[in-house]
Amino acid sequence: MPARGKPAGRTTHRASKASDGITPAKGKLGVMIPGMGAVATTFVAGVEAIRRGIARPIGSLTQMGTIRLGKRTAGKTPLIRDFVPLAPLEDLVFTGWDIFHDNMYESAMNAGVLERTLLTEIRPFLQGIKPRAAVFDRNYVKRLDGPNVKKGRNKMDLAEQVRADIREFRQSSGAERLVMMWCGSTETFIQAGEVHDSLKCFEEGLRKNHSQIAPSMIYAYAALQEGVPFANGAPNLTVDLPVMQELSRRNEAPICGKDFKTGQTLMKTVLAPAFKARMLGLSGWYSTNILGNRDGEVLDDPGSFKTKEESKLGVLEHILQPDKYPELYGNIFHKVRINYYPPRGDNKEGWDNIDIFGWLGYPMQIKVDFLCRDSILAAPIVLDLVLFLDLAQRATELKRLGIQEWLSFYFKSPMTAPGLYPEHDLFIQSMKLKNTLRHLRGEELITHLGLEYYD
Ligand SMILES: NC(=O)c1ccc[n+]([C@@H]2O[C@H](COP(=O)([O-])OP(=O)(O)OC[C@H]3O[C@@H](n4cnc5c(N)ncnc54)[C@H](O)[C@@H]3O)[C@@H](O)[C@H]2O)c1
Repeated sequence: MPARGKPAGRTTHRASKASDGITPAKGKLGVMIPGMGAVATTFVAGVEAIRRGIARPIGSLTQMGTIRLGKRTAGKTPLIRDFVPLAPLEDLVFTGWDIFHDNMYESAMNAGVLERTLLTEIRPFLQGIKPRAAVFDRNYVKRLDGPNVKKGRNKMDLAEQVRADIREFRQSSGAERLVMMWCGSTETFIQAGEVHDSLKCFEEGLRKNHSQIAPSMIYAYAALQEGVPFANGAPNLTVDLPVMQELSRRNEAPICGKDFKTGQTLMKTVLAPAFKARMLGLSGWYSTNILGNRDGEVLDDPGSFKTKEESKLGVLEHILQPDKYPELYGNIFHKVRINYYPPRGDNKEGWDNIDIFGWLGYPMQIKVDFLCRDSILAAPIVLDLVLFLDLAQRATELKRLGIQEWLSFYFKSPMTAPGLYPEHDLFIQSMKLKNTLRHLRGEELITHLGLEYYD
């Protein structure tokens, strides 16, 4: 049963002075979401329910997490949201785009993630969020089609229309700052090409309707041109491209991605580091998923599945470093399957069979059967990313970096600077995130050395 609790109330955030390099989170923060499906509606409905005190923000680091400061003996462990100036939930306002006309209430009802009683309580609020016409092209998501789609002379014209939407929302909502979160469907597999190399090539590509420019890239381009930070919740290339990194740095609009790390990959990035830490070998990892939501239907198309597969497969290789440990990890059979199975709806089952070996090569097996809820796991990630990306844009040290690698914690396939391998280990990612916050606030970084306790 969903947890219900006390009103969250307006928290007293630690005041931020411009002098410590972070401007305060004053005024409304507008959240713009391409793709108003299961994840987006579970996130928005959840935020509203939490604001009204009828549910708790479980799974959200920004709302429930603490951060240790100084020595273990110092006893200083504030809430993260009291330590860095994050926008309070009360200040969030929302809009989105979708190819269907359903408002957020209708879409949440269709998604079937949240209970009808909860949705009824916040119905007028959700009904007020209606989708803007989407930039959409069936060539990039074969299993979908819908009526609420923009028309334009070319892709540049469509990008201009999204930019106009952004400006309109900024004005009509009174938002001081904006963040865009891609919660749209997984697009077909695309490789980066010359058209993505520079702003000049990309803009020419937009005008010439280049086929390697997918709709998600059009939203991202529009956001970054408007100085709006962008996070990519799907495994699409979208901002994982030189042109977007160039725009992001130039316009001080941070980016991060890609593909929310929710169920099976979350488990993988917990278990694999444990095997490596103990020098246990791995011979095979078979992962299968059954899910029956719209995301599952989209992923049933081989093109969209390939995009997802690439994102899911990279994890083990990076964590286990077979080149360094050929005896242990040089011959792994890693398979990922996703099967569309309508009876399960959003309640996915992720099943893993793991073949490991230990002392003298003796084999062992581990089975993980995660009966999870996709959007329940994804919604708090969306919330944290919204708040942290907004923080990044207000922090002098972060806003010019482009890629926010410290947010790897939330992604299956974290973006990094060119030539740098990603950190997939959840606990390294968590330490990186918290140390970034400590660094921003001029606190000592935590190394876990701890010899001083024995002096
Ligand atoms: N839920 C999870 O655990 C999880 C984890 C990682 C990644 N993701 C990704 O997040 C995304 C959203 O997942 P979901 O379960 O909400 O899927 P969903 O199918 O319920 O929602 C996606 C929505 O995007 C809309 N859409 C598609 N293309 C669009 C476009 N070009 N412009 C505007 N709207 C568009 C669809 O009409 C749909 O309403 C998917 O790409 C999924 O792969 C989800």
